[in-house]
Amino acid sequence: MKFSYISHLECSKCKKEYDHNMVQNLCECGFPLLVRYDLEEVAKNWKKDSLVKREPTLWRYHEILPISDEEDIVTLGEGMTPLLRMNRLGKEIGLENFYLKDESIIPSGTFKSRGAAVGVSKAKELGIKDIAMPTNGNAGASWALYATRAGINTTIVMPESAPAIPRNECYLAGSDLYLVDGLISDAGKIIGKAVKEYDLFDASTLKEPYRIEGKKTMGLEVLEQLNWEIPDVILYPAGGGVGLIGIYKGLLELQKIGWIGEKLPKFVAVQSTGCAPLVEAWEQGKSESEFWENAETIAFGITVPKALGDFLVLEAVYETDGCAIAISDEEMLEEQGKLASIEGIYICPEGATTIAASRKLYEKGWIKSTDKVIAVNTGIGIKYPEICNPDIKMMDIGDKLSK
Ligand SMILES: Cc1ncc(COP(=O)(O)O)c(C=O)c1O
Ligand SMILES: [Zn+2]
Repeated sequence: MKFSYISHLECSKCKKEYDHNMVQNLCECGFPLLVRYDLEEVAKNWKKDSLVKREPTLWRYHEILPISDEEDIVTLGEGMTPLLRMNRLGKEIGLENFYLKDESIIPSGTFKSRGAAVGVSKAKELGIKDIAMPTNGNAGASWALYATRAGINTTIVMPESAPAIPRNECYLAGSDLYLVDGLISDAGKIIGKAVKEYDLFDASTLKEPYRIEGKKTMGLEVLEQLNWEIPDVILYPAGGGVGLIGIYKGLLELQKIGWIGEKLPKFVAVQSTGCAPLVEAWEQGKSESEFWENAETIAFGITVPKALGDFLVLEAVYETDGCAIAISDEEMLEEQGKLASIEGIYICPEGATTIAASRKLYEKGWIKSTDKVIAVNTGIGIKYPEICNPDIKMMDIGDKLSK
């Protein structure tokens, strides 16, 4: 019995194979590498029953995660976040089986910690000492924290307008941190030059092959939490779309090891109307997106004008008869408030897009009232204090409430 059944890396485009025991970034053709496992051996050696005795962290799926030696795991206890049934909000929308995969309760408060836990663990296993990356904030925060725990240095560039909390997390974790008056794509160009000049490992989204493996565990967990029953629809707030690519990949692996059957959920990529390259591509039936000019939305994590893995997101959407839909900032804020006031859950604006999308797709008849619908909330609302500006009555000392 092996701890991991990782076999190699494979290019998502030209299928060229690479050694996972060496440091790798993109394929020589310029496209992302995906981790492959010996799934026949996994099917023979790994049974669902084994999960009963395992810790409630994402490492419970270690057979299909890329870390070969358990000793290399860098953990802050990430994973097995709640799958919350939303009866009251579901009723208000018209959905009978509405669930929230809630990533609020995870180190650093966003699902980025899944990618960071697995990415940093693999970096440690490969002997990497310096990691560099551009970020919209949350990924940088998670990578900075996990890397510090592993004794690995980080160099991070983020837009000046990124939220303050992840910036502080990077700073306090001891990152070599820089701000740029631009977008994540501008931060990426700076990092791109730096990794060539200094000996830094480029951990930009999808240039680093392993974070996707951490993110796929959201899908594995949802299925385990539903006792391996396949939901009808999964809605995901897509920036780079890595979480969606990961969840789809994880479900295909579960099919190959025989834990689930033919049926897959329909995947919905949800974006902001202020930055919707994937939605535009899907509406035009294209397999790749165009760069989105002047991207702007309060859902900072999904402000990605052109994603390296756009074709993989679109593939998951097309292959599952899913769709892509854009949500305005006003709609996000409204749903964020509704979820807090109806269900008592304070989610991030990115997560709120999936609630708004569920409502819209139900109203259009695309989602049926009986469908089992999973909205993915990728982070906790308290990471975004800037976007809530309530008008609250001020009192003088000694005043009385008038109800
Ligand atoms: C809270 C949040 N949700 C969603 C995303 C989008 O992530 P992905 O690359 O998986 O599309 C991000 C990325 O920064 C994020 O911070
Ligand atoms: Zn290739």
